[in-house]
Amino acid sequence: MTHSALSTPWQLARRAERMTPSVIREILKLTEQPGIISLAGGLPSPDSFPVEAMREATARVLRDAPREALQYAASEGFAPLREWVAALMAAQGMTVDASQVLITTGSQQGLDLVGKVLIDAGSAVAVEAPTYLGALQAFAPYEPEVVTVPCDDDGPLPEALGVAKGARFLYLLPNFQNPGGRCMSEGRRAALVSAARALGLPIVEDNPYGDLWFDAPPPAPLASRWAEGTVYLGSFSKVLAPGLRLGYIIAPHALMPKLLQAKQAADLHTPGFNQRVVFEVIRDGFLRDHVPTIRARYKARRDAMRAALEAHLPTGCRWVVPSGGMFFWVELPEGVDATAMLPKAVALGMAYVPGAAFFATSPKHNTLRLSFVTVAPAEIERGVALLAQALKAAQ
Ligand SMILES: Cc1ncc(COP(=O)(O)O)c(C=O)c1O
Repeated sequence: MTHSALSTPWQLARRAERMTPSVIREILKLTEQPGIISLAGGLPSPDSFPVEAMREATARVLRDAPREALQYAASEGFAPLREWVAALMAAQGMTVDASQVLITTGSQQGLDLVGKVLIDAGSAVAVEAPTYLGALQAFAPYEPEVVTVPCDDDGPLPEALGVAKGARFLYLLPNFQNPGGRCMSEGRRAALVSAARALGLPIVEDNPYGDLWFDAPPPAPLASRWAEGTVYLGSFSKVLAPGLRLGYIIAPHALMPKLLQAKQAADLHTPGFNQRVVFEVIRDGFLRDHVPTIRARYKARRDAMRAALEAHLPTGCRWVVPSGGMFFWVELPEGVDATAMLPKAVALGMAYVPGAAFFATSPKHNTLRLSFVTVAPAEIERGVALLAQALKAAQ
């Protein structure tokens, strides 16, 4: 009998055994030391938070509907906000009505609800390589067998989708993937949806970064191509502020009742106060002017990182320049282990996220993720130069 079994009356559920601490949060602790240039974070730039608009909207909500805003509210979400989301998606070519919109406590909760409703222990879930670590964490307690679909720089290979046959769903990040940075082409989207349809393989499409494009908007969502076979997750975290914890699921009618029941069990509803404040901020087109300011800021920092990578990283390193979002994904020369290299990089004064954790199976140890949005361009340049030094020492 182990010491812990002797000293505690608690027995953990099997699902709790499958929960793991976020590698990224552990790394962030390391990088919060003063003087470290952290390219490890996954946070939006706080300079982009619309503080004044939030302040005014909060005052209006408290003036005009204080008791409604502070009361329990509908599990589906604040009706005008659901209408707004439905109209947003209709503008992107989706046939959707407000009854298909479920407001969630961040899109992270959307991932959990989808997992809860769709995954049985031992059932398969298919993902990209690499994929969003937070999704793997959200799905893990439901005990799926995670299957990785082979990918190239444009996303999963449609001709390889057979490995996912029979899976409960295929989890995809078409726009400016976290961590990969890439945006799926129009052709790849069409081919993937048609291959998934042919297999009867539903899609969970996660899109928190789609509005953060630098040159041209990304192609239409997968959900616009196969509405009844796709659950779409959206978020206000990257266009307004993540502290609001506001996201949404758009689901086929057939799934809505179960998602709603799972939502009720999880937290009754997403804070009505936050929903009303956000609706007050965005109702008259605020995002039309606000989002371009985020794009401009992030694009300048993307350019700074691109220039720094070109200037400092040796041949044998590889990256695809992201056309939106927040991340560069870098492949180091074969044989270099980015996890093992991290302490050296931190000792030199910079931090990144090693890529291995973003793979559900067969991690590529020579990969890492760099965020370009929270650090000023001059710091990006210094940080990447230090990364090159760490790499030199590791080779
Ligand atoms: C791909 C992806 N999905 C979902 C989330 C969760 O976002 P939120 O819960 O803030 O909406 C994130 C956060 O970084 C993300 O990168």
